[in-house]
Amino acid sequence: MKFFIDTANLAQIKEALELGILDGVTTNPSLMAKEGITGKESIYRHYKKICDLVKGDISAEVISTEYKGIMKEAKELAEIAENIVVKVPMIKDGIKAIAELTALEIKTNCTLVFSAGQAILAAKAGATYISPFIGRIDDTNWNGIQLITDIFDIYTMQGYDTEILAASIRSGLHIVEAAKAGADVVTCPLDAILSLLKHPLTDIGLQKFLDDHKKAQAAAIGKS
Ligand code: G3P
Repeated sequence: MKFFIDTANLAQIKEALELGILDGVTTNPSLMAKEGITGKESIYRHYKKICDLVKGDISAEVISTEYKGIMKEAKELAEIAENIVVKVPMIKDGIKAIAELTALEIKTNCTLVFSAGQAILAAKAGATYISPFIGRIDDTNWNGIQLITDIFDIYTMQGYDTEILAASIRSGLHIVEAAKAGADVVTCPLDAILSLLKHPLTDIGLQKFLDDHKKAQAAAIGKS
């Protein structure tokens, strides 16, 4: 399973990169706004910085919601760097654009996927990735992970190549459950990735190893 980080924050991207486990980055207009990046030129410059940092796929989202606008933006975004993946919303014109971008060999990530039916349509259009939003489904008291399982079963049975990119991940548990459900990729905030490191028994065990080593060293010095 690939690990993407879901942020436009360069410091966080660098921290995940230094961990040696990062395969890519996803962003969206809200994440860009959170970093205070506004205006097309600044936004595109920021994408370029991310693409220079990380060699894997970098999702950059279109703002247009009608076919011609989506296509124009998608082509401009794809010009920024070879590793740009154009993120397109799950709407009628979005699906039409994904089919055309696929024909042009431009990678796409179909975002805002909340049902298996949407996932089937995006795969039929040839999307490189689909992004089911696990956390936001859980927020409505439905089961986000169950959707990943359903899409995995359908894609496996039907032989679709589209990769399942589990998004709106809120915790380490979401990452583990998405892996069990067959996600190809998880895109996570840095905190969720770092939470996977944590187990109290690891901390207790490490402290005991270090204490035992220290005692043995002290005893050896005492004997000499
Ligand atoms: O990848 C989509 C993600 O950014 C949405 O996450 O936490 O806003 O639901 P969230």
